[in-house]
Amino acid sequence: MRLALSTWQEIETYLSRSKGVIIPIGSFEQHGPNGLVGTDALCPEIIANAAAGDSEDILIGPTFSVGCAQHHLAFPGSMTLRPSTMIAAIADWVASLRRHGFERIYFLNGHGGNIATIQAAFAEIYAEASFAAGGAPNRGLQLKLRNWWELEKVGALCKELYPQGHGMHATPSEVSVTYYGYPGAVKDAAMTPEIAPIGHFHDADDYRRRFPDGRIGSNPAPACPEHGERIVSLAAKALVADYNRFLDAD
Ligand code: NI
Repeated sequence: MRLALSTWQEIETYLSRSKGVIIPIGSFEQHGPNGLVGTDALCPEIIANAAAGDSEDILIGPTFSVGCAQHHLAFPGSMTLRPSTMIAAIADWVASLRRHGFERIYFLNGHGGNIATIQAAFAEIYAEASFAAGGAPNRGLQLKLRNWWELEKVGALCKELYPQGHGMHATPSEVSVTYYGYPGAVKDAAMTPEIAPIGHFHDADDYRRRFPDGRIGSNPAPACPEHGERIVSLAAKALVADYNRFLDAD
């Protein structure tokens, strides 16, 4: 069930049987020569929609598409929020949902660079409850962050599909997931060198100087829709189980 495709009456009824919602959260940033700028937002969205399927008991909220990607800004098309802006936006998204009675909000994340900021946002939101003992608007609210690549067995499948050159950014697994979701957007590009360098970076110009085509440690050339289908199908099953555990937990 998707929030964007529901009426308010359907959501009112949904809330009588579930207080949970899944929010895909990602980033808009370059993903090397054959990866889509939307990769990190598309991956959690594709997996979440596959997990929900036709179920009336799993609600998928809007995708929080632009995240923390300042280090990619030297590549055209990349967009970012400052961490402070993202924290404020997540707090407003959660407050909106909380007002209607949502109590368990599960963020399925597609971008490693978002993790610290999402965790800081959670701490800000919980602080509201902690400061105002008893009557806080956020009392009873539970938030969860899960990176899609950490869903059960997904890492092992990615290792099996790409024993070499999986890398850290513009990985063949994430590119495959987007190719499965959008087969019309499959790109063909040369990788030079075949496996990109690894290393640290600071700001956007420094990143581009160190990683001229945008990749870090990866060779996404083998990415294909067939691999993406296998990854999505496994991740979607694992997401349903993980989300249900979150709903059922204390
Ligand atoms: Ni990515």
